[in-house]
Parts: sequence; C-alpha cells; structure tokens
Amino acid sequence: MTKKIYIFDTTLRDGEQTPGVSLNIEEKLQIAVQLQQLGVDVIEAGFPFASKGDFEAVKAIAENIRGPVIVGLARTTKQDINTAWQALKYAENPRIHTFIATSDIHMEHKLKMEPEEVLKRVYEMVSYAKSLCPSVEFSPEDGTRTRRAFLYKVIETAIDAGADVINMPDTVGYSTPSEFGALIKDIKDNVPNIYKAIISVHCHNDLGLAVANSLAAVENGAEQVECAINGLGERAGNAALEEIVMAIKTRNLHFNCHTNIITEQITKTSNLVSYITGMQIQNNKAVVGVNAFAHESGIHQHGVLECRETYEIMTPESVGLKKNSIVLGKHSGRHAFEERLKELGYTNVSHDKINEAFVKFKDLADKKKVVSDEDIEALINHEVFRTSEIYTIEYYQISSGNSTVATSTVKVNFNGETFSEAACGDGPVDATFKAIEKAVGISVNLKDYFIKAVGTGKDALGEVTLKIEKESKIFSGKGISTDIVEASAKSFINAINKMLYLNSNDIGA
Ligand code: KIV
Ligand code: ZN
Repeated sequence: MTKKIYIFDTTLRDGEQTPGVSLNIEEKLQIAVQLQQLGVDVIEAGFPFASKGDFEAVKAIAENIRGPVIVGLARTTKQDINTAWQALKYAENPRIHTFIATSDIHMEHKLKMEPEEVLKRVYEMVSYAKSLCPSVEFSPEDGTRTRRAFLYKVIETAIDAGADVINMPDTVGYSTPSEFGALIKDIKDNVPNIYKAIISVHCHNDLGLAVANSLAAVENGAEQVECAINGLGERAGNAALEEIVMAIKTRNLHFNCHTNIITEQITKTSNLVSYITGMQIQNNKAVVGVNAFAHESGIHQHGVLECRETYEIMTPESVGLKKNSIVLGKHSGRHAFEERLKELGYTNVSHDKINEAFVKFKDLADKKKVVSDEDIEALINHEVFRTSEIYTIEYYQISSGNSTVATSTVKVNFNGETFSEAACGDGPVDATFKAIEKAVGISVNLKDYFIKAVGTGKDALGEVTLKIEKESKIFSGKGISTDIVEASAKSFINAINKMLYLNSNDIGA
C-alpha cells in the first residue's frame, strides 16, 4: 500500500477569506456535509474568535459532522484558543490550529515582538491548546520567508509543547517548487523531534504555484496538504483540492502515495461551493472547468473516439461528470424524480425536501420541454437548499422596450407582510433592482452581475450570479429561472437576505 496523504480542506476558513465571499451557518454546514461525502480527512471549519457567526458555524459543524477531524483556527492567545475550544469540544475528532508569524518582517512590523518572545509564546500557547484539545496543529505564519535557524527552533519548540501537526505555510505564495520541496526536506533533516509530528503544507497561489509547491512538498515527505475547493482562499487563493487529488491519483506511480478522496464527488462539491460562494469557475480551470474534458479540435475528437487515452489522462467519470443525459419531463412521476436525485448523489435529502423539490420540478417541467440533470442540480441548489429567506419575491411585472423607459413593479414578502413598490430604470433588470431596493428599504451598490445558461437550448434556465456592496462589505446572490428578469430579481433578493442574515450574526472579532 502506498503512503496516505491527508487532505485538509480549508474552504470554510481560508476559502471564506476570498474577497467577496461570506457564508452563513447553514451554507457552511451544507458545504461541510458535502466535504464529508467527498471523503476529506480534515475540515477547517472556521476561525471561532473572528465573529459570532464563525463561532456558531464551527460549533454546528463540530456537533453535526462525524468522521473527519474538525479544526478551528486560533492565534496564539488564550482568548482565541479558549473560544476555539468552546466551539470544537462537541466534535468527534477536534483539533485546534494555532499560528503565529515567524518571519522578521512580520515579527517586526505586524507583531512588534522579538523572536525570543515569539518562541516563548509558541511554547506557552501550544501547551495550553494541548491541555484542552487532544490534537493540536501549529503553523509558523510566513514560514517560507522565515530565517531557517529560527524556523527550525520554532518547530522544535512547538513539537516539544505538544503539537501533533506542523503546518508549513507559504503565506504569501512566494516559494517555488524546488525551494519548497527542499524546505520540507531540510525541516526533516534539521528538526530533531520532527519524527513526532505530521508535516503539513499550506500554499498560496500568488504566483500560480500553489499546487506545484504542495506536490513538491509531498515528494519530499509532507503527509498532509491543506487545500480548498476550486482553489478559493485569501488573495489568489490556496492550492486547489481537486487538482492536488487528481494529480496524486493520475500520477500515483510517480508520487507513490494516495488520498482517501472519493473523486467521483469532486464535480458535485465544486459546483456546490461555486453556487454557495458565488465564485464562478473559469472555463479552462483544471479538473472542474467546463472545458476540462471538452475536445474542440477535430484531430483530438478523432483521437478520443478511436482511443480515449490519446487525449484524456483521466476520465470525466472519475471526477463525477455524468454524460449529459436528458432525463425527465412533465409526465415524470415522483418516484422517477427521487430515483434520479439518488443517481445524482443526493442521497441524504429528507422526505420534505424531496416533496418541495418535486413541486419545483413540476413547475419547471411545465415551462421546459425536457428537464436535464443540470437543471435538476441547479434547481436543488437554488430552490430547495436555499437558506436564510428573509425577504421573498411574491410578484413582479415589467414594462420595457427599445423606445420606452423600463419600469418594474415588485411585491416582496417579509414575515407574511407584503410591500409593493415600482421604479424606472435603465432596462428591466435595473428597474427591478431599484423597485426591490425601495420595497425592502435598503440601497446597495451592484458590484458584479453575471448571467449564464444552465444546459443548452432556447428554453435553458438562466442562472444569475451577482455581488452587492454595503458599507464596504460584499455579499453574493444567485437566482435561476427560465425568465432572466426573474432570475435577476431572485439573485438580488438572495444577496440582500444574506447581507441581513450575516449582519445579524456578526459581532466582529
Ligand atoms: O496562509 C497562512 O499562513 C495561513 C495560516 C493561518 C496557516 O492561512
Ligand atoms: Zn492561508
């Protein structure tokens, strides 16, 4: 058996630090359930001290998810560590992940601490974390720009204090693969007690090298890789989980190791994370982009038809891509619908949710001739697992044309009470957004608006993703409908709902 590489998913922590991404508790829990189905070994659920919302989300994940280790991040302070432990203590396998910066530039300008003070803090706080929690991970932040002798000392101290996992972050994505691989080897050669800990790596993608650096670390003895679905994370993101996992699987003879990821769950996880975070996946993204398995040139198509391996190093099925089958229509019954949901991997859906989904499916089937797998997945994600519905759109009507000013009337529902407003705008979508703003009494800046068709055909569902800004905070929203104005209205109200929900939960660190 080859060596196992532990997959530590940080989508819910570093991934949530992606500019413009903020998730509520239900959304985090939904992603955590899917990460469990994906088979990750470790879920970094959040930074409990950062906000009340983060605390509650980590607690909810600790209480509900069984199997993976559940991690909460904490700076090396008692307050942070205590708060992390309060959120994590319900987990089957809890882990506190504590960190402090160790590079000269961070110690001098950010921490304003002397190296000796940092070293003392590492010992005290790792010991303290270990007194609360059976598993402790320590990260020397900005590790790749830390003076080597000091780095070795810090790691040795953390292990002496009880750290079980030593994570080496390339915090600013500065390293190159050969340098990073050598660093891991040097740590193994120069830290006397390193054999007592698991070596983990956490690479940022500022130079587009996060995956390559992580794999170089694996080649040199790292046993845990921290990564995020779709490469989400601070600035240019973290190493993409799906790329790390598929590289190890596809080139297992080269890496001589394996992961426990159920790779057939990759596409579903990627789509769910993209949907919930509002972060689009670029078409040519490795493994999960829509073009990842598309063959455009005739020569390639011919080759693949003759022998798939000519141009495909991994199969679409291995990442959970199904053949684009047209499945159901308006005459399909509940049983067929439920079976199809199961085939698509929605095995844990409650009876009530299936009933709700079936009603929505029938509505859709009335509007569309055929309902494809993509339609069903979009419908489930958008309509059935939609969370925090504070306001809902009851009704809208537009008048628009190339020689009239567009007007829109909307009626929104809030706790059973309805509010109607009308507004003019630069086109029907703009008019509808303005009418919604008036009806809910909130004005926001529209920062981003993106529309795409789900599936093919003139009657395809339109999926709108947008971002709104209020008081320098960004919130994303999504909506689907066969009518693009309705999809826009739904995504706008979805973003407003998220804003209201998150603001009511966030007390700040
Ligand atoms: O990038 C980083 O250094 C981090 C640490 C908290 C591990 O995210
Ligand atoms: Zn990071």
